[in-house]
Amino acid sequence: MRAVVVSGTGGPEVLGVTDLPAPEPGPGEVLIDVVATAVNRADTLQRRGFYPPPPGASDIIGLECSGRVAGLGPGVDAWKVGDEVCALLAGGGYAERVVVPSGQVMPLPGGVSLVEAAALPEVAATVWSNVFMTAHLRDGERFLVHGGAGGIGTMAIQLATARGAEVYATAGSPDKLALCRELGAVAAIDYREEDFVAVLTEAGGADVVLDNMGAKYLTRNVDALATGGRLVVIGMQGGTKGELDISTLLRKRGSVTATSLRARPVTEKTAICCGVVENVWPRVADGSVKPVIHETMPIEDVARAHQLMEDGAHTGKLVLTF
Ligand SMILES: NC(=O)c1ccc[n+]([C@@H]2O[C@H](COP(=O)([O-])OP(=O)(O)OC[C@H]3O[C@@H](n4cnc5c(N)ncnc54)[C@H](OP(=O)(O)O)[C@@H]3O)[C@@H](O)[C@H]2O)c1
Repeated sequence: MRAVVVSGTGGPEVLGVTDLPAPEPGPGEVLIDVVATAVNRADTLQRRGFYPPPPGASDIIGLECSGRVAGLGPGVDAWKVGDEVCALLAGGGYAERVVVPSGQVMPLPGGVSLVEAAALPEVAATVWSNVFMTAHLRDGERFLVHGGAGGIGTMAIQLATARGAEVYATAGSPDKLALCRELGAVAAIDYREEDFVAVLTEAGGADVVLDNMGAKYLTRNVDALATGGRLVVIGMQGGTKGELDISTLLRKRGSVTATSLRARPVTEKTAICCGVVENVWPRVADGSVKPVIHETMPIEDVARAHQLMEDGAHTGKLVLTF
């Protein structure tokens, strides 16, 4: 099979496509003929040598894919060969064939093509698990998402809006701010020039914050919370060690949670994928949530795709096809 390999660690130039032996499905696993995969920030970290795959996962990069079922391991009866599916992976997506636990395979939501479906599993699973399963965002609550025009952000704005929340998003350029508003944000905040704490405080505080910045925004995110607010940190783009003012958190009866999807056990990922199919896919099928794809390119352009992401030159997702 064709697969992306990393020659040493470093910039996008270390990525190349070569031939490797295809994997075989083990007990409880599904073999997928990959039609498309998509780029995640974690992929760029793995390429740089900072984010090794969890034990047992493929060392080929790639956290999601779409394609057709090509084989079934012992004990799998939920799928049949030829089914069109998409999947949440712990690795291995940048290859023509991948094996994945059956519970992390999902049907395609209605109204999207097989290629577009590759842009959905990671963002849908991350947003569903953090914003709804962990932070319990409810109808009518105020929701702040940082990086509203990125892959996670575009899904978070749409899903939170579709579920009746009042959405605030930060972004770093006029085009990206406009995209956040188009997707449903009531206010798009330019993080280079405006103070999101002031905007949210004026509005009454954020009930839920989904944060990609980590340390750099920790104090300000807590300041932006409403009473009973929930901050969920999923990224460390602004560093790992911040200062938490316990008295502010205590006064607000707030909470701070941080999660990582990739290292969760298969049982938890299976539960998340079930939640996605039940709660997110109907929104995709009725058109209230759309995959936002910056560009679809052949797998041979993988280095350019990583460069685009690291330059912040994209909005939404970057899809790679086989
Ligand atoms: N924990 C998990 O399980 C999990 C799962 C998936 C993703 N993530 C994390 O979630 C984050 C977003 O992932 P993604 O796939 O959406 O990546 P992405 O498309 O590259 O988005 C990154 C975002 O960061 C924003 N950003 C950069 N500097 C900022 C600042 N100072 N303030 C606010 N926003 C800023 C960018 O905004 P502009 O482009 O507008 O500048 C961009 O929207 C990453 O940190 C990723 O590692 C975590």
